[in-house]
Amino acid sequence: MRKKIVAGNWKMNLSLEEAKTLAGELKVKIDHHKDTLIEGAGNNMPEVVIFPPYVYVTRMMDLFMYYDGVSVGAQNCHHEENGAFTGEVAASMIRSVGASHVIIGHSERRSQFGEDDKLLAEKVKLALKNNLTPVYCCGEQLPEREAGKHFQVVADQLLHGVFWLEKDQLERLVIAYEPVWAIGTGKTASPDQAQEMHAHIRKLIRDSYGEQTAENISILYGGSCNAKNAGALFANPDVDGGLIGGASLKAEDFFEIIKRRQENG
Ligand code: PGA
Repeated sequence: MRKKIVAGNWKMNLSLEEAKTLAGELKVKIDHHKDTLIEGAGNNMPEVVIFPPYVYVTRMMDLFMYYDGVSVGAQNCHHEENGAFTGEVAASMIRSVGASHVIIGHSERRSQFGEDDKLLAEKVKLALKNNLTPVYCCGEQLPEREAGKHFQVVADQLLHGVFWLEKDQLERLVIAYEPVWAIGTGKTASPDQAQEMHAHIRKLIRDSYGEQTAENISILYGGSCNAKNAGALFANPDVDGGLIGGASLKAEDFFEIIKRRQENG
């Protein structure tokens, strides 16, 4: 059965002190919640992954290394193994500090740093080679949706970015659907729009890799997901969780989203 995941993309936010406070508060909330769950029916807590800025990754690893249920990842990696790339970070380095996940192809990387599917495919390859779980992002811009091209745009991003992988490699991926018009804008995709696209993505996987693989891959929704709308989004059969930006910066909000995921099975 595929994993339910709630991931927090902190982007370029928080001082170190703020990051440590946020992580500490999150831990307290999860611990407290787990204690109450032991008496309740079952523990179907989703997997939680946080994506702090690079410079805080080791600090977060210190906090979460031996902590069950919260993993740490990086927001990006370089597409080469190593070398003269001043200011860049390799997938192997991320792995070497104990992190387990890496976001690849976030729309901010695509639009602000000119990353295309070909380059992202190289990143995915290196992430997998270094035993990281890539969280591969896809999603259309508003004019593409308005022109009715959103299904094709997402299909192309998957086709060129990840559908060249072998079946066993693809199964190690998490996919995040993030409509660009919903990221940081307060405009969330409706639960129906999210389900429709997630079902489309799963069908694309099924058509290329078969039923089993399609059923095994977690597909997260991202784009102005918050404590209020998360429940309705997660109630959809193909929405396995969320990649949360703004609302992951406050422990209370993020934890509420984690609970919405848990409540929705
Ligand atoms: P948002 O960001 O939740 O602030 O819209 C989501 C993301 O970019 O991953």
